[in-house]
Amino acid sequence: MIIGNVEVKSLTRLAPMAGISNAAFRMVARECGSALTTSEEIDAQGIFRKNAKTRYDIANYLPEEKPIALQILGADADTLVPGAQWLQDQGADIIDLNMGCPVKKITKTGRGSALMKDVAKTSKILEAMRNAIEIPFTIKIRSGWDEKHVNAVEIARMAEDVGVDAITVHPRTRSQQFSGMSKWEMIAEVVDAVNIPITGNGDVKSMSDARRMVAETGVESVMIGRGAMGKPWVFDESFESLTDQAKYDYQTRVINRHIQLIIELFPEHFGLVQMQKHLSWYAGGRERVRSFRVQLFSARTYDETREIFDKYWESVNPKNAEQLDMAVV
Ligand SMILES: Cc1cc2nc3c(=O)[nH]c(=O)nc-3n(C[C@H](O)[C@H](O)[C@H](O)COP(=O)(O)O)c2cc1C
Repeated sequence: MIIGNVEVKSLTRLAPMAGISNAAFRMVARECGSALTTSEEIDAQGIFRKNAKTRYDIANYLPEEKPIALQILGADADTLVPGAQWLQDQGADIIDLNMGCPVKKITKTGRGSALMKDVAKTSKILEAMRNAIEIPFTIKIRSGWDEKHVNAVEIARMAEDVGVDAITVHPRTRSQQFSGMSKWEMIAEVVDAVNIPITGNGDVKSMSDARRMVAETGVESVMIGRGAMGKPWVFDESFESLTDQAKYDYQTRVINRHIQLIIELFPEHFGLVQMQKHLSWYAGGRERVRSFRVQLFSARTYDETREIFDKYWESVNPKNAEQLDMAVV
């Protein structure tokens, strides 16, 4: 897929997720095969007010992450235009506007999916942003505000008319939040309605789900969010064909790299929460995970966390399980 002048070299890519898709996780997703990643939502008000947390924590990215899309969140052109220009100046390759966030705190101030309610007003905001930046401009939308206002096709046509370069569609309404299964038919309707590239998103957990989404909807690219939590190797085409031991060794390399990036990039009080959250997901679906998690979240430093994890991780090494089986025989 090509977005403006940016080539997206893989079929699947990591979704923006607040509190999760930060530089460390984006980097490991990228190294596993997600060719373009998108930052967490970056509050335009925070940029505008020169909030240090917004400007230098959330908007931070590594040079090796490029090309990168930085996602902006806001309700009006007065903040979104200078915010997008500032992100462009920081070296973003793409500016993505969040038009999908369902969280009440966000929508009650007109941000996120609330932008899907008033098409005429939002059209003016998109036009102002389009004219203010030179780099590709994309939007991420839901199917609509609620069941009575399903307007993804209308929004997509309007966005194409004002010069938006590509759209990501997560086919749930704001009132559905994340419940039920997403309706991929809605993605196909958007693909049919416009001539700009469409990325599909929603309930993709594997490369075969991604291929099914392409076959069923005609999208050029697939975004994976929750399916990548604890599984960034979902972006690697070859992962599923590996043996159990090779999978484990691959996972060990990825996890070690993730731990190293967290330590390098974040102060311990913030990084510790990130490290424990992701390590807990990495252990998902394995043996004795419950007692491991209790121990993990009781650790108070990087070193303690590392020690608890390493011990647990070694205990689930398929090599050791084989030796254990042989001992039982
Ligand atoms: C914890 C969490 C945080 C999210 N934060 C954002 C965000 O900052 N920006 C955004 O556009 N979408 C955000 N999303 C939505 C995801 O990008 C994605 O659209 C959604 O999870 C559906 O895809 P999935 O089924 O692959 O998870 C978030 C989702 C989750 C679960």
